[in-house]
Amino acid sequence: MLNDYVKIFDTTLRDGEQSPGCSMNIEEKVRLAKQLEKLGVDTIEAGFPIASPDDFSAVSEISAILKNAEVCGLARALEKDIKKAWDAIKKAKKPRIHTFLATSDIHLKYKLKMTRKEALKQAVLMVKYAKSLCDRVDFSPEDAARSDKLYLYEVLSAVIEAGADTINIPDTVGYAMPEEFGELIADIIKNVPLIKKKNIIVSTHCHNDLGLAVANSLAGVINGASQIECTINGIGERAGNASLEEVVMAISTRKGFFNLKTGIITKEIYPTSKLLTQITGVKVQPNKAIVGANAFAHEAGIHQDGILKQRETYEIMKPEDLGINKTKLILGKHSGSHAFNDRLNELGFNLNKEELEDAFIKFKVLADKKKNVYDEDIALIASESGKVIKETYILKTLNVVCGTHGLPTASIILIDKDGKEHAEAKIGDGPVDAIYQAVNSILGIKNKLLEFLIKEVTEGIDAQAVVTVKLEIEDKVYFGRGSSTDIVVASAHAYLNALNKYLALNV
Ligand code: KIV
Ligand code: ZN
Repeated sequence: MLNDYVKIFDTTLRDGEQSPGCSMNIEEKVRLAKQLEKLGVDTIEAGFPIASPDDFSAVSEISAILKNAEVCGLARALEKDIKKAWDAIKKAKKPRIHTFLATSDIHLKYKLKMTRKEALKQAVLMVKYAKSLCDRVDFSPEDAARSDKLYLYEVLSAVIEAGADTINIPDTVGYAMPEEFGELIADIIKNVPLIKKKNIIVSTHCHNDLGLAVANSLAGVINGASQIECTINGIGERAGNASLEEVVMAISTRKGFFNLKTGIITKEIYPTSKLLTQITGVKVQPNKAIVGANAFAHEAGIHQDGILKQRETYEIMKPEDLGINKTKLILGKHSGSHAFNDRLNELGFNLNKEELEDAFIKFKVLADKKKNVYDEDIALIASESGKVIKETYILKTLNVVCGTHGLPTASIILIDKDGKEHAEAKIGDGPVDAIYQAVNSILGIKNKLLEFLIKEVTEGIDAQAVVTVKLEIEDKVYFGRGSSTDIVVASAHAYLNALNKYLALNV
C-alpha cells in the first residue's frame, strides 16, 4: 500500500441492488447516490448498464450529477457491455469502467466454456478496449478465491500490462477463511511485480455466505489491499457483501491496530443506512453491528449501571459519531408545518413549496391515524409528495367488503386529470383482486400482474405498509408503489401508480 488510505468502493447500487427485494427505481438510485457522495465514499458503482434500460439511465443520471466521487459502471468482458458502460458513465467527472471475467476452473469449464488461454486473451483484449475509452479501468477475476494462484498471477499481470489501474479480488461465493484471503492478497502482491511498479490498487470484494465478508476484507487490507468493495447494510447477492459501516468502523475504532484511515464521514453512516431501508423497505436485523436498532441499546442492569458511570465500560463507539440521534422529537397531529419542515431538512429532504404543501397535508392525515409519526413515516411521505398531481388517475375513495362470508367486493371512485369522477364496483377472489378488477374496468388497460410485494417500513401496529407491484403491459414491465397504514389502500395506490406510469409514457 502506498500510504495509509483505504479507498471505499461502494457497490450498493450494483451488487447490493442484486439482492432480493432491494431493487430501486431511477429516482431512488439517484437519491441514494447523492447520499453516498455525502458519506464520502471514493467510488460509487452505480449499476450494470447493459442489464436494463433503467440501469443504464440510472448510471447515466448519477454520472451527470455527482461532483466528487468516481462513478463506475460494471461490464462483463465483452465489447458490447463495455461500450454500454462507457456510454452511461462518460458524463461523469471521474468515470470508471469495471470489467470482469471468471478465472476459476469451475466457472471457466461450466459457465463460460472457455479454456484458461482463451479467458486470458479475452481479459486482455477487453481491458485494452476499456482503456481506449476510459482512463480508469478496474478488472475483477471473478471467483478469484477459488482460482489457481499461478494462473491468477498470469491474468493479473496481463491485465495490468493492458491498462487496468485497479485489480479487484472477489471471493464471489464467500468461501475463503480470513487467513486464506489475507494470504491470497499478500501472495498476489508478491507474485505480480507490476502492482508495486505501477502503483496498482489491489481491492477486495468479499461475499458473506459464511458470515466472513467483513473479516475477509479486513484481512485483505492488513495484507496490503488498499481498497474495499462493500455495501450499505451489507446488502448484496445471496448473504450479501462486506458491510461498509462495519469495515469502516473497524478501521476507525481500532486505529492503533490497523494504522489506516478512510475518507468516510462517519456521521453520515446512520442516515445512509436509514435512507436505504426507507427506499427498499428491507429492514436491518436489530442486532446488526453499527446500524441495528440494538447496536447501542443496553438492556442488562449491570450494563446500564456501567454506562451511566462511564460510557466506555460497555460502548466502544459513540452513537453520535455515527449520526445516531438518541433523543428524537416525535411529531404528531399537533405539530405545525415549521417543525415538520425542520424535520424534513434534518432528514435530508429539500422540497419545493408545492411539494411541501402536499407533504404536510399527507402528514396531517397520517397523524390523525397514527399516534406517533416517526422519521421513517416522514421520509416516506416526502419521497412520495408532489407526485400525485402528475398522475392521470388518482384514488378518491375506496371501500372494500371482505371476510369469511360473502364475496369480496370493492367499490372505488377515481378522479382523472380533468377532474372527472369514475365510479365502479367489482367482486374478486379477494379484496385486492376486487380492487384491481374495478380499476381495470375504469381504465381498460390489459395487463398481467407479475409481482405483488408488501413491506412494512415503520414500526408498531400502526406501521405504514409499502406495496410494490410489477405489471406487464404490451411486453413492457411497469413498477408501481403505494404506501398507507392500510395494506388494502396501499395495494390500490401501487396498482394505480404502475398504470399511471404506463399512461404517462404511452398516451
Ligand atoms: O462477486 C463478484 O465476483 C462480483 C464481480 C462482478 C466483481 O460481483
Ligand atoms: Zn459480488
